[in-house]
Amino acid sequence: MSRSVPTRVNEIPTPALVVDRAALDRNIARMAAFFAAGPCRLRPHFKAHKTPEIARRQLAAGSCSGLTCATVGEAEIAAGLCDDILLANEIVAPEKCSRVAALAKRVRMTTAVDSLAGLEALSRAARENGARIGVLVDLNVGQGRCGVEPGEAALTLARKATESEGIVLHGVMGYEGHLQPVRDRSERESRTREAMQGLVRTAKQLRDAGLPCEIVSAGGTGTYDISGRIDGITEIQAGSYALMDTDYSDVGVPFEPAFWVLGTVVSRPARDRCVADCGHKSMTKDHSLPAVRGIEGATVTSLNDEHATIALPPGSTITIGDRVELLPSHVDPTINLHDAFYVVDGQAVVDVWPIAARGYLEHRTRTRMEEPA
Ligand SMILES: Cc1ncc(COP(=O)(O)O)c(C=O)c1O
Repeated sequence: MSRSVPTRVNEIPTPALVVDRAALDRNIARMAAFFAAGPCRLRPHFKAHKTPEIARRQLAAGSCSGLTCATVGEAEIAAGLCDDILLANEIVAPEKCSRVAALAKRVRMTTAVDSLAGLEALSRAARENGARIGVLVDLNVGQGRCGVEPGEAALTLARKATESEGIVLHGVMGYEGHLQPVRDRSERESRTREAMQGLVRTAKQLRDAGLPCEIVSAGGTGTYDISGRIDGITEIQAGSYALMDTDYSDVGVPFEPAFWVLGTVVSRPARDRCVADCGHKSMTKDHSLPAVRGIEGATVTSLNDEHATIALPPGSTITIGDRVELLPSHVDPTINLHDAFYVVDGQAVVDVWPIAARGYLEHRTRTRMEEPA
């Protein structure tokens, strides 16, 4: 039995991911306008939404230097949308390096690198595939995740990159991920300025040593307007701004919630409680429980696999079969749970956008690529 595409929100089978097209476009336009002033450019992070139609809208809005990706699978999808891709992540496995090399023959492909082993793996893949892979030396600017230390260690790896066959050094990157959620604006600003000094100083050291460094990449939704105005930073890798989540709303960045998880009330067991069919298999709770959109005083008290339990305000008339809209606390892991966005304009469903790179963990990529078209 075939199911027709819903034309109204109340026909959407739940749980489902919904995007408000007008709000999304306002967020995209607002970010593009900030970067239109230049000289720093925006390189929207594809990992946030994994959705070609959203990336197309980001690129069409202008001020972009290309797209950022986190995985090779994402880059394989993104390369169909844009000819300048930054894989802002360490790629070391031979099979993945070969896929990066294959991409590098189609588009300008740059990846982060923070080790000699990583550099050698990329160089080998480039040689074997007759490709040239761009690299940015990844610096630890305080997050304590990947990255070499700014200064001498970075310079040594950068020099090694210029000596590696098939590798082209484009510059440096340093993601200040630990500062994105800092609530207090002046603290976020001062700590970001301090963290970025190491990045900008290292870029200068590279140039002083005669090494190429045309890209200095950093930033996210929490720091785009701080790092994006620091002299010497050439591009910002923000992703969440387009859709937004409650965590970033709490940070106070000037973007509006543009997506939510739609659920249906399946139980109303008490005057002060209802239960909807959207649990943590349809949205993450890693930053916090989701918020309830549009019902004053209602709060989610727990998320189980398939259930959201919602505390209701006195006098609530919500009943079995009604719809609820939950605003997730974290964009990326929520999107990754869904195959498509229902695109809405008020109560009308105006489109359905595939989340093409969703679940694109590397073992699935091969299976999907081998599937007949
Ligand atoms: C390397 C890197 N750059 C940029 C970002 C910024 O993303 P967002 O704007 O969604 O916080 C992230 C997010 O995790 C990241 O890992």
